[in-house]
Amino acid sequence: MPRSVRPAPALASFALLALALTACSGGGGVEGTPGGSGVRDPYFPKAGNGGYDVTHYDLKLAYDPEKRHLTGTAGITARATKDLSAFDLDLKGLDVDTVTVEGKGARVSRSGQELTVRPHDELAEGETFRATVRYSGTPVTITDPDDSEEGWLPTADGALALGEPTGSMAWFPGNHHPSDKATYDIAVTVPKDLQAVSNGELRSERTADGRTTYAWHTAEPMASYVAMLAIGHYDITRTTAGADRLPVYTAVDPEQAGASRKVLAKIPEIMEWAEYNFGPYPFSSTGAVVDREDDAGYDLETQNRPVFSGAPNTETLVHELVHQWFGNSVTPKSWRDMWLNEGFATYAQLLWEEDNGGDSAQETFDALYRGDYFDDAESGEAIWAFPPAKPSGAAHISDSPVYWRGAMVVHKIRQTVGDDAFYDIVQGWTAAHRHGNADTDDFTAYVEQKAPDKDFDAIWEDWLYGEGKPAHP
Ligand code: TRP
Ligand code: ZN
Repeated sequence: MPRSVRPAPALASFALLALALTACSGGGGVEGTPGGSGVRDPYFPKAGNGGYDVTHYDLKLAYDPEKRHLTGTAGITARATKDLSAFDLDLKGLDVDTVTVEGKGARVSRSGQELTVRPHDELAEGETFRATVRYSGTPVTITDPDDSEEGWLPTADGALALGEPTGSMAWFPGNHHPSDKATYDIAVTVPKDLQAVSNGELRSERTADGRTTYAWHTAEPMASYVAMLAIGHYDITRTTAGADRLPVYTAVDPEQAGASRKVLAKIPEIMEWAEYNFGPYPFSSTGAVVDREDDAGYDLETQNRPVFSGAPNTETLVHELVHQWFGNSVTPKSWRDMWLNEGFATYAQLLWEEDNGGDSAQETFDALYRGDYFDDAESGEAIWAFPPAKPSGAAHISDSPVYWRGAMVVHKIRQTVGDDAFYDIVQGWTAAHRHGNADTDDFTAYVEQKAPDKDFDAIWEDWLYGEGKPAHP
């Protein structure tokens, strides 16, 4: 140091010392701040949380159907994406008993669906940490903005846990937004006369003291809205599909067994057809869960094995299985991008029909445009209520424009580029975003880049983003 440098005045060195002390308290060198209570989803602003990214959920659950009582331990492995003094988890209902972060007791507070965790030591950006939440109680059923029910649904002989769009926070704490996917271990203990079915593959099944623990493992990233748990009496079938012997695991309520047998036997054929059209299957097992009609009242594309309320028909089976590519592997960045799920899963139904001796997709498109595809004129009109890429509110993300007009957008692309380029685009899309997230802008940019000599402007403007029925089919 040159001798001419003026020594720092006392006040300045005190300030420097104070700064250094503050920096030390953060552990990571800088003072952390809270992660935030949402990820600014345009339709569900409180869904998910800022400041971290979950990589793995390790859930150990026990359920007593008679008392409707759930006991759970959620081990959450996550990476801080900023310096954190606190972070939120989403959890609705249930009682939180204790929370630890990196093995040390953390302070918690709750407000609505936000469970705020203040760890003993601040977390530094880039740090991987483990939070463990012990909780219990009677899980709640959540009514969606569109009046359908999700979360925890008690059934005649057990329960069904479903999560689109926000129901998963009723049975485990987490970062409940589709943008944060993770791998899962879900172990469920139930009275030994019942089964517990979840996502992924069954790793073990052990009975002790009158209770059986089913341990399920999901090795591929999963959005929490397609996590699932089905507890009850089921007829279980284990087979394989295709030359690669993909495991097929089906669980069917005995009341639905007769009506389900023939259609579920088509799973291998549908999987093969879907792989041929949409690219390699992204997961390590498939199957289905069939419960009773009024257990949920709708079907859902839960990962690996979709849930059906009552025996499905072939079209709904095709729809939910194709969601494994569109929705579960390529997952929307936000709830505004729902048409990327439903438009493709619905278009797959039209393709299945076309490939199996039914109407061509063009014929169905024409009938939808004319308004006589559905039995009643009202349903025919409902397709035009809003543009598929801009649903008119949270209550409408599963309305018919997202499904049917979304499928018509896919068909317009096929019309524009022809079949060869169309399947090339579709398979390229599922490969480019396999196990990831994508939004509508990613999609339109991808299509344009794959077919640079074509003009898609009118399709995006009129069919994807335009209000009302487009002037031309
Ligand atoms: N995704 C389901 C399907 O198409 C339907 C569905 C069930 C849904 N619950 C939802 C869509 C909640 C949006 C929101 O098979
Ligand atoms: Zn769907």
